[in-house]
Amino acid sequence: MPFTIDRLSLLADGVAHGPEGTVHVAMALPGELVEGTVENGRIAAPSILTPSPDRVKAPCPHYRACGGCLLQHASDAFVAGWKAQVVETALAGRGIAARVARVETSPEFSRRRATFSGRRTKKGTLVGFHARASDTVVEVPRCRILRPELLAVLPALNAMTAAGASRKGEVAFAVTLSEAGLEIAARGGKEMDPALFQTLAGLAEAHDFARLSWEAETVAARRPALQSFGAARVNPPPGAFLQATAAGEAALVDFVRKATEGAARIADLFAGCGTFALPLAATAEVHAVESEAAMLAALDRGWRQAQGLKRLTHEARDLFRRPLLPDEIDRFDAVVIDPPRAGAEAQVAEIAASSLRDLTYVSCNPVTFARDAERLVQAGFALADVIVVDQFRYSAHIELAARFRRT
Ligand SMILES: C[S@@+](CC[C@H](N)C(=O)[O-])C[C@H]1O[C@@H](n2cnc3c(N)ncnc32)[C@H](O)[C@@H]1O
Repeated sequence: MPFTIDRLSLLADGVAHGPEGTVHVAMALPGELVEGTVENGRIAAPSILTPSPDRVKAPCPHYRACGGCLLQHASDAFVAGWKAQVVETALAGRGIAARVARVETSPEFSRRRATFSGRRTKKGTLVGFHARASDTVVEVPRCRILRPELLAVLPALNAMTAAGASRKGEVAFAVTLSEAGLEIAARGGKEMDPALFQTLAGLAEAHDFARLSWEAETVAARRPALQSFGAARVNPPPGAFLQATAAGEAALVDFVRKATEGAARIADLFAGCGTFALPLAATAEVHAVESEAAMLAALDRGWRQAQGLKRLTHEARDLFRRPLLPDEIDRFDAVVIDPPRAGAEAQVAEIAASSLRDLTYVSCNPVTFARDAERLVQAGFALADVIVVDQFRYSAHIELAARFRRT
């Protein structure tokens, strides 16, 4: 029996309504008539009877097998519109009418960090991404998301997998492109021994890695794995958070800068290694708060070595358990907040109770963002501006930046 797709789910499945209830349809688009075998409420391999005008041929040869991308069968314009609509719908569900002003999508071949999976097989090794909803590893030598430097490292990751993966286990290689070359943090492999250390150190040398760590052990630190944030250069700890693309980071920093223009004292909460704090310190005194002390230490070193920045203080603090309190918040002219997917419920409650007037919220989860936005609006803030910054093109992941003002 054919189904008509009404909308996309948050995981980018098509959603249809049949006599037995809701059916999720893989890789289907709104308006399409589809059919296929329904198993556990899902059609995994649908026949598309009437394709949407938004349907395009997926540009990547790995798309069918690889689970990394979910939306290559839709036009860029459709995906941008859908991501904006998800944000608007999440806000409307909380009683906030807002339009996403623009969507800034990072180009193909621009992801500068990725986590690859490595497994040993009967024939040798496999390194790539997981297949959809599976632990099978799919090789992705022609991936259209990653920077060429990340694709060029695949042979070295295969060699590390051969040397360091256990027979049944999987190694996760977090690879980040720094200004000094690649930084690789491996987890889940065999326990270190002298032979493995020697092999890994040899590979780091042969492939000119800036840094290689295996679990908590540093195998090679050949150069500082530097990232520039404004006028400062930071050497983040292994595997530290970094915005996924340079274009996405630039769009977010630009938004945050404009939203905080004129503020003399700014708090940057969930500050990481200083993506926002350090550029903002060009014109304002900044207090950076973050739970990971190692990230703050890197931020602080970067600030000390930079020229011409204003005072920057920092504090290691769990903002879920110990959010900044109203009297602390009231010392700042503006606050920037960039929490993980869970959002910042506790911190937003304190902001609501403070006298703060200017808040910039960067979010990687429209659902928790909308929850927090509702609390802010109840406390007298208005949502002045919201944009989508799409660093994860072809995926269902949605990031946004928003400005709240209270008069
Ligand atoms: C989305 S990242 C943003 C980092 C930084 N703003 C950037 O753009 O690079 C979220 C940050 O929140 C930090 N974090 C996670 N949970 C936290 C908590 N409970 N309290 C304080 N910081 C936390 C993480 O270590 C991470 O650096």
